[in-house]
Amino acid sequence: MNKIVSLLIFVSLGIFVLSFWKSMESPGPSQTMMTTDTLKKDPNTGFILDQHYELLIAHCTACHEAKVVTNFKASREGWLEKIRWMQKTQKLWDLGEAEPKILDYLAKNYAPKQSYVRRSPLKDIKWYPLEN
Ligand code: HEC
Repeated sequence: MNKIVSLLIFVSLGIFVLSFWKSMESPGPSQTMMTTDTLKKDPNTGFILDQHYELLIAHCTACHEAKVVTNFKASREGWLEKIRWMQKTQKLWDLGEAEPKILDYLAKNYAPKQSYVRRSPLKDIKWYPLEN
């Protein structure tokens, strides 16, 4: 009887240690780690796999590589301006109902990055007099 009890303890301890080990090995996706580099991309075009990316493949890869799009960063207004410019000078067609969706996608995934992280202000600083 004693043998069975100690065996049970041993086995459950083993399972506990194993599951702990596993959770250390593969941390779940965390919001703060979702940068452009960790997002999944379409292997053919490099477009970030997000809602409406197929529209980008349909409308934005006919005249130039997808890279021209993915290398560019702009706000929603900036993207709209680019599209209008291409329509005016490059014979880009009317995007119709796809336009707001394309803009949603671009503004979300290809917005200008903030190049710095704001730290919180320092608190409780003890100033000390400089000595000569
Ligand atoms: C009808 C052809 C055509 C289509 C379709 C097209 N473009 Fe372009 N686009 C061009 C041309 C031509 C250029 C390059 C102009 C140049 O060399 O300065 C360009 C350049 C660009 C640039 C680079 C701008 C810069 O200043 O570096 C971006 C960004 C861009 N396109 C985005 C898009 C997006 C987004 C779509 C889909 C909505 C799209 N393009 C669809 C013709 C097109």
